Amino acid sequence: MKQAAALFDLDGVIVETAHFHYIAWKAIAQQLNFDLTPAHNEALKGVSRVASLQQLIRWSGTTISSDTFEHYLEEKNKHYLELIKQLNPADALPGVVDTLSLLKENKIGIALGSASKNARSILERLAITSFFDAIIDGNDVQNSKPDPEVFLKGAEAVGVAPSNCVVFEDAQAGIAAAQAAGMYAVGIGTPEVLDKADRCIPHFNALTPQVLLNLFER
Ligand code: BG6
Ligand code: MG
Repeated sequence: MKQAAALFDLDGVIVETAHFHYIAWKAIAQQLNFDLTPAHNEALKGVSRVASLQQLIRWSGTTISSDTFEHYLEEKNKHYLELIKQLNPADALPGVVDTLSLLKENKIGIALGSASKNARSILERLAITSFFDAIIDGNDVQNSKPDPEVFLKGAEAVGVAPSNCVVFEDAQAGIAAAQAAGMYAVGIGTPEVLDKADRCIPHFNALTPQVLLNLFER
């Protein structure tokens, strides 16, 4: 097999954390006198913490001082960190661990490409850190998805050309980032939402080992 790599988004691909982000953002939205709905939360998938708060403020139609902005960022993350304490290895999404094992056995590079600044502690909670040859997260990038920076840095860290990388993503912004990086983008979700993905699957168990490995032989 040629040198190849798999780049994984975290939230919504490896573990479902959207409901925790939702609870924590909803509490901030309440303070902005704004009712955050699940539809709003959908639009925040893949969006960085700072950009998410900027969006909340736009939706609420209010303005806040930069001190209050910082305070809300801190409060939201504290709440979120409290909520994710309940994550454990059984919370890795279906097929994730088998997929990581198969890639490892076949010497395919494995990197994380996530907007989250909490990525490392979540991988630890799931007990899957050791599968990753590189971890690029919200602490390592200047530009959020759909900018390709996070995936280009991941490819560079594992020493694989972007054209030989396959990205697994659940957010439209992430699919766009992967394609802007010149990578093959596999959407995890529904084709209606991820219509731009090169291929879309509901979860990792939908790929047989052979089909998974064939993705790296394009
Ligand atoms: C993304 C999530 O993976 O990470 C977003 O989809 C989240 O909802 C973003 O806002 C940043 O996460 P964190 O953990 O740094 O607040
Ligand atoms: Mg995601």
